[in-house]
Amino acid sequence: MKLIRVADAAQAGKVAAEIIAQKIKSCPDCVLGLATGSTPIETYNNLVQMYRQESVDFFRVRAVNLDEYIGLGAEHDQSYAWFMRQYLFDHVNIDPANTYIPNGLETDSDKECRRYDAVIESLGGIDLQLLGIGPNGHIGFNEPADTFAKGTHRVDLTEATIAANSRFFESIDQVPKQAYSMGIQNIMHARQLLMVATGENKARAVRDAFRGAITPWVPASVLQLHPDFTLIADEAALSLVLDKL
Ligand code: F6R
Repeated sequence: MKLIRVADAAQAGKVAAEIIAQKIKSCPDCVLGLATGSTPIETYNNLVQMYRQESVDFFRVRAVNLDEYIGLGAEHDQSYAWFMRQYLFDHVNIDPANTYIPNGLETDSDKECRRYDAVIESLGGIDLQLLGIGPNGHIGFNEPADTFAKGTHRVDLTEATIAANSRFFESIDQVPKQAYSMGIQNIMHARQLLMVATGENKARAVRDAFRGAITPWVPASVLQLHPDFTLIADEAALSLVLDKL
């Protein structure tokens, strides 16, 4: 595991964008695994800026997202499909046909999960997966559980995650209760993993994931086993581990 310490979320976004841009330069048709939530917004803002300055080209990039809410279509403004267009895809020259996200409107979950795993396989796997971390240690929507989920699966979101995500909705009742998410195996098969963790509300998750035992009760702890995992974190997120990582 490699740790990059940064001052704050703005610097974290800059560093993450540079690493992603470097990947695109060395592999113009790379497969990027992308995340949503508040953490990657700074990263996407920086990538858009780099694209405008012609220092990165998304023309041949393929992008596959970690997760999507069940029940929200791509035109719903809280869907992750919408989020990706809003913060990245509409502002760079990525081909929309090369962007993939689970279909939140598919009610046959077995079918959708098999389809999404087949999409990832048909792309040849993920070259670089960007990750955030939930305050409860989740990655993608792999919630604390007694086993690690392998492939794409339907998730019942925990009360904690519903509460954490309610800040994006008008009321907590509007937050979907389920999601499709890549599994731990999908994520662990990515050739390179990049996590961004900033802010004090991530400190406990960072401590439990990277200082504690590897357990599905802290899903991100499995990343300790990945051969090419980088954590970009600010002092607030590292406040409970100090210099011990
Ligand atoms: C979203 C995702 C989630 C988030 C996590 C942190 O695609 O994969 O695991 O990364 O919930 O969310 P924020 O960044 O909003 O704190």
